Amino acid sequence: MTTGENGSGTRELAGKRALVTGGTRGIGAAVVRQLLDAGAQVLTTARSATSAAPEGAAFVAADVRTRAGAQELAAAARDVLGGVDVLVHNAGGAQPHESAAAIPDEEWQDALDLNFLASVRLDSLLTPGMRERRSGLVVHVSSAAVRTPVGQFLHYTTAKAALENYSRGLALELAPFGVRVNTVTPGRVATPGGEATREQWARLNAAPGQTNAHDTPPLGREGRPDDIAHAVLFLASDRAGWLTGSNLVVDGGEFPRG
Ligand SMILES: NC(=O)c1ccc[n+]([C@@H]2O[C@H](COP(=O)([O-])OP(=O)(O)OC[C@H]3O[C@@H](n4cnc5c(N)ncnc54)[C@H](OP(=O)(O)O)[C@@H]3O)[C@@H](O)[C@H]2O)c1
Repeated sequence: MTTGENGSGTRELAGKRALVTGGTRGIGAAVVRQLLDAGAQVLTTARSATSAAPEGAAFVAADVRTRAGAQELAAAARDVLGGVDVLVHNAGGAQPHESAAAIPDEEWQDALDLNFLASVRLDSLLTPGMRERRSGLVVHVSSAAVRTPVGQFLHYTTAKAALENYSRGLALELAPFGVRVNTVTPGRVATPGGEATREQWARLNAAPGQTNAHDTPPLGREGRPDDIAHAVLFLASDRAGWLTGSNLVVDGGEFPRG
């Protein structure tokens, strides 16, 4: 049995059309690979045209931080896929600063655009089609850092907190139309973006001559991109047919709940 097969040996997402933002590395690339394995047709996006999308996925270069980028992406989804059944908002991130007051205005805007408004804009273009077809799944990728906000990273956690609230509200609006909307919240995952952020964090916070090592999560290891992709794949499957407005926290037990 391959990753995407269910207990009966069928490719459970055969015939589904998926759009994944930020699918050229890290968590997004793992999501793309698992959706392809499960039989879905996948379109992904990133800013750099040179980025390598996983083999088998269609790729279009777009910047999801802008309304124009969202429109280009929605048009590509119509042209390449003919519509979207599974929409995964994965592109996200930000770099920490010395303090909340040191976060420049443009980085606040950037963090809000990338981690929150990108989802709002793309959902507004693609969920009406799902609503009409009375089926569809939207996944918003948040961050467990929302549970422990600190000034140095407040632009990022504030944007992700807004995303979680928005995701829940959209789920309730679209539930009567058979469209499910859920959040997946990763803890610390070994990805290029995650490592770059943690290195910057360590530089800002380590006392001279010290390293800034993290504790190991209760389950004994750092997360892998596939840990998060498994949760997305579950949500995309019929096995999650009664799940909407939920937030799956995938963090090895590390962060506070609630
Ligand atoms: N890794 C972690 O520890 C962790 C923890 C909690 C939450 N998360 C969340 O999980 C998601 C994925 O994180 P990751 O660590 O896998 O990220 P990553 O390694 O930095 O990869 C990010 C992906 O998004 C694309 N991207 C970035 N900005 C974009 C933009 N403006 N428009 C279009 N595509 C863009 C990147 O390609 P280009 O640079 O070429 O555009 C890349 O494909 C993010 O939402 C992040 O906040 C990650």
